[in-house]
Amino acid sequence: MNTENFLPKSFAMLVIIMAALTTSCQKAAHTPQVKSPDGQLAVTLISGENGKLGYTLSFKNELLIDTSWIGFEFKDQPLLAEKLEVLDVALSQADESWEMPWGEQRLVRNHYQMMRVEIQEAVAPNRSFQMEFKLYDDGMGFRFLFPDLEEEQETIILDENTEFRLTADHQAWWIPGDWDIYEHLYNHSRISEINAIALRDHNDLAQTYIPENAVNTPVTMKTNQGIYLSFHEANLTDYADMTLKIDTVEFHLVSELVGSDRLGYKVKRSGPFHTPWRTIQVSETAAGLIESNLIVNLNEPNRLGDVSWFQPAKYVGIWWDMHLGTKTWDYASTQDMNTYMGQNPHGKHGATTAYAKELIDFAAENGIQAILVEGWNTGWEHWIGFEDREGVFDFVTPYPDYDLKEVVRYGKSKAVELIMHHETSAAPRTYDQQLDTAFKLMHSLGIHAVKTGYVGKIIPKGEYHHGQWMVNHYRRVLETAASYQIAINAHEPIKATGIRRTLPNAISREGLRGQEFNAWASDGGNPPNHLPTIAFTRMLAGPIDYTPGIFNIKLKPHKPDNQVNTTLAHQLALYVVINSPIQMVPDLKEAYVGHPAFQFIRDVAVNWEQTKVLNGEVGEFVTIARQDRNSANWFLGAITNEIARTLEIDLDFLEADKTYEARLYLDAEDAHWNDNPTAYKIVNQQLQQGDVLNLKLAPGGGAAVSLIPVE
Ligand code: NOJ
Ligand code: CA
Repeated sequence: MNTENFLPKSFAMLVIIMAALTTSCQKAAHTPQVKSPDGQLAVTLISGENGKLGYTLSFKNELLIDTSWIGFEFKDQPLLAEKLEVLDVALSQADESWEMPWGEQRLVRNHYQMMRVEIQEAVAPNRSFQMEFKLYDDGMGFRFLFPDLEEEQETIILDENTEFRLTADHQAWWIPGDWDIYEHLYNHSRISEINAIALRDHNDLAQTYIPENAVNTPVTMKTNQGIYLSFHEANLTDYADMTLKIDTVEFHLVSELVGSDRLGYKVKRSGPFHTPWRTIQVSETAAGLIESNLIVNLNEPNRLGDVSWFQPAKYVGIWWDMHLGTKTWDYASTQDMNTYMGQNPHGKHGATTAYAKELIDFAAENGIQAILVEGWNTGWEHWIGFEDREGVFDFVTPYPDYDLKEVVRYGKSKAVELIMHHETSAAPRTYDQQLDTAFKLMHSLGIHAVKTGYVGKIIPKGEYHHGQWMVNHYRRVLETAASYQIAINAHEPIKATGIRRTLPNAISREGLRGQEFNAWASDGGNPPNHLPTIAFTRMLAGPIDYTPGIFNIKLKPHKPDNQVNTTLAHQLALYVVINSPIQMVPDLKEAYVGHPAFQFIRDVAVNWEQTKVLNGEVGEFVTIARQDRNSANWFLGAITNEIARTLEIDLDFLEADKTYEARLYLDAEDAHWNDNPTAYKIVNQQLQQGDVLNLKLAPGGGAAVSLIPVE
């Protein structure tokens, strides 16, 4: 049954039309203030001693952010932080709706009140700038604008000193402010206990640089009053990633931009510019953080128009084999990349035409729409550990045992699309040179998605993955890809900041410790609390390519010393908990064939009409229900950390007067993430709106439910 029926099209249209932007301007009162539409969040502008300028944020009349000052350090200029005068304040508002081409919900309401503040230095050089605050019911964003600069005038930012002064020693869930990688486990501590420096030595990271006691964003907090906060940024464009330096005594956070040792500054801009939005999501429930649309709302509308050439998909891959060590990316053992042709291949190469066809058959049989093939192009003999990685990969030359065109043709004959793979080995200049050639090849073959990768220290030396130079590289790749109708799933990416609204070919990304760590990390892999934490931290930034769904939890016989630290039902639930329009079905196909629980992966959708976060506590548990965008089917996923619990789920989100055939994939009574991870049971029952489910989750466990209306 095809229902776009939760919101009939005609109603959706109406919402969009009624939403016509309403803007009214007025002078603000003596103490400039702006509130969220529901009146609960308020930002107040503060003028301090020596003409310092700052802001506070309050929620229900209680301070959430105490007076926090602003300031910029520009090269060859005096500090911009004092003798600041407010010239003008203008208030405006908007209430509109927009449609996600794919994503966690179809319609998004963008409803805010805004305050624009014109500021000028009262002394020479009398620089002027603006601040914009946008207040939403689910949080606030503010940014700095320098609209009066001359067109060609160059501005070099040595640092941005934007403060966020917390009111107490909150609990925080944080990763270190690493300039090169986000693939850290989240830490849970009080602000006063944050010690990022202690996380500097890490065996499992191909690149890492933690210069200060700073955290990266999103960083999520809980106050003693039970308010949840998450700090991040939106629309990171032509600027550097913002980390937050921690003052563990006063509980202050100050922006610390990622820099470049090569260039000696943080950001260079020419002409008028503005910073990304600095954002704070605020909610009385942890679940509310996930339901927030603040980050996408603070981005510009879709610039690509119709992107239906990209279709949300589940995908298999020649991938987990390499992480398990059963196959390799490279073709021959030689390390001379020019001589492997005709040399003795070592016989473990994964990306062969034959294996790709086998997996295409498997995908087609199970309604899986795509296949990723890694290790298909020459150069992998020179991948890890080589200093000089420029020119190693060319993205058009397949190994001799891989017939790219034939794989694409065979896939298309079975309605299985190839997802291309471009591992750049962190040599972005090589990739820049190859981009058009690589994308032309993809375009000519009708391939619409590519997984990119940036493992290793960036070449040239002195650049970091999260600096402005790389931010601009990642954006160039995205924009160039769009012009060839190609979507990007970046690994070792820049963090998500909602650009997917503007460029919906930014479909997914890594930017966290993915499933692959369970195959080889020296520290025991991702603990059971990993995803219950990710859901309230990294996932607030945007879609995640986590690769859930490992069934061979103990990785036998391939990796006796590693394992996945969840139950099988938890792995299933991740297809609903994690938001991404592409979800991998990563395990070796032997793990799935004939397995009754595989039915859930076959059934589960990847593109959603709406999302309901039913419960949750950061790092502990979460339950999410999502309705398929192409049917009336609902899917529900619940996961827990190492603590067993029973979750009472109200099914009031189901459509009234419908009966649903529910299939519950549950932890067995004696299931346990370590002792008995694959013990599960399937229960079938009919359910309706108003019914209540008591889901029993094992330690490290989960529950996955499909709800299909009875015709
Ligand atoms: C790291 C990525 O996260 C992983 O998924 C990929 O297989 C390797 N790089 C090789 O590109
Ligand atoms: Ca990675």
